[in-house]
Amino acid sequence: MNRKEFLKRLGMLTVGASLLGTGIDNLTQKVEAATAPTKPKGNPTDPELDFPVRSLKAKTERPITAIIIGAGSRGTTYGKYASQFPDTMKIVGVADTNIFRQKRTQKAHNIPAENCFGDFADVFKREKFADAVIIATPDFLHFEPCMKALEMGYDVLLEKPAAQTEKECKAILAQAKKYNRIVAICHVLRYAPYFIAMREAVRRGMIGDLVSIQHMEPIQYAHMAHSYVRGKWRDAQKTTPIILAKSCHDLDIIRWIVDRPCKQISAEGTLLHFRPENAPADAPARCTDGCPHEATCPYSAIDIYVRRKRHLGVFDLADRKDEAAIMEKIRTTEYGRCVYKCDNNQPDHYVTTMLFEGGITASFTMDAFTPWGGRRTRIMGTKGFIEGDGKRFTLYEFRSSKRYVWNKDIKELGEYKHAGHGGGDHALARDFVEAVAAHNPDLLSSTIDASIESHVIGFKAEKSRLSMKKVEID
Ligand SMILES: NC(=O)c1ccc[n+]([C@@H]2O[C@H](COP(=O)([O-])OP(=O)(O)OC[C@H]3O[C@@H](n4cnc5c(N)ncnc54)[C@H](O)[C@@H]3O)[C@@H](O)[C@H]2O)c1
Repeated sequence: MNRKEFLKRLGMLTVGASLLGTGIDNLTQKVEAATAPTKPKGNPTDPELDFPVRSLKAKTERPITAIIIGAGSRGTTYGKYASQFPDTMKIVGVADTNIFRQKRTQKAHNIPAENCFGDFADVFKREKFADAVIIATPDFLHFEPCMKALEMGYDVLLEKPAAQTEKECKAILAQAKKYNRIVAICHVLRYAPYFIAMREAVRRGMIGDLVSIQHMEPIQYAHMAHSYVRGKWRDAQKTTPIILAKSCHDLDIIRWIVDRPCKQISAEGTLLHFRPENAPADAPARCTDGCPHEATCPYSAIDIYVRRKRHLGVFDLADRKDEAAIMEKIRTTEYGRCVYKCDNNQPDHYVTTMLFEGGITASFTMDAFTPWGGRRTRIMGTKGFIEGDGKRFTLYEFRSSKRYVWNKDIKELGEYKHAGHGGGDHALARDFVEAVAAHNPDLLSSTIDASIESHVIGFKAEKSRLSMKKVEID
């Protein structure tokens, strides 16, 4: 769309919004979509890079059985794979201290009452009763259930970050070897068709030899406020530093594409904005306490949750359209607090540079202050260049001046319709099922062995940020 058309449509939207009374939120969302980052350039006639996209249905002769430990957002995501492909995976148990979620999962998978637990420790008091456990508890509750599950002979689908320290990550690796079990880390981007195609283009030498990567993770301002200022990952000590909690996928993708060890890392980052000294003088503790800045503050909880209806999963609402119920939640939970008056300590912007074996370099930027989320990547090679916006990428060949695009709408592939992270969530579940059924970790790309290095890169980045020194990686 050119500028003139855009302004015309914007005008039509404005009139339409006021006439129809759809409100500013609809309009804002449409404007956000219209002003989303510049797409990699290319013409509709550019030839497609036609790398095959695998079906999501696991190839297995029998369904594997699994227990969900932590039936929140992520546990439910993997449960949905089982619901979509019931002859590949069956959820036979659940543990969640949140009774609403435990019951919701019990009902969704028809789990017998004796296999429903509160604390995860109770699962392990029983004899082993499934092939695998899916560990989707908060970051600080990954290590203990994972070590116990491996000891009891379960294979494990383990949410990222694997554990809170480098030492614990390595202990999980050792435990998996000791008991000869599979641990798949939920580095879901490795399974997303977009990133698979991008890596394949590099591996096939389509841009010559790899020289460097620029990768960005825009968090999106409201997502930052929700998760890393008010919410679950606001305290690096109680969870993990944001470079792991938010960006371990990105370090992993960079390492996976480079396909060589990272030798050195340097990181900078600060908590610049979400600090008490930046609160307007007359701002109360909660947005619902009659804050005089509510109408203009981009981080207003009333705006994010009540008007825009974003990030509502944390509230366990029976009806997500019930504005009175949402209002009550923001009056009474941490999610209604003024963003300048929270007990948060995660940086809101973070930059790292990495040196890989053979002289390849990469830079990674994570930033809270963007209107959109997702990923943006540029890859520089000796004979070509790739630029992608997380959904579509263009590959430029220098000598021929040819352009190729990868632009598959995977949601149109039916099966992928409900798979988050560009299809990666359910593609990981598929590969996990196949690996467990065949007892073959090589069917996964994010085994604990493969994923441990990107975790180490994350811990070293944080060490560099805190010490303000470059850190070598063994
Ligand atoms: N792979 C990804 O892309 C991705 C995305 C988001 C989050 N994560 C990770 O997934 C994990 C879960 O995140 P989430 O967003 O689903 O969180 P969540 O809070 O929605 O779910 C965690 C669940 O664990 C339950 N729980 C807490 N203590 C428990 C205990 N002792 N025993 C049993 N259950 C217990 C909670 O009640 C909650 O329902 C985190 O480690 C997070 O970092 C990964």
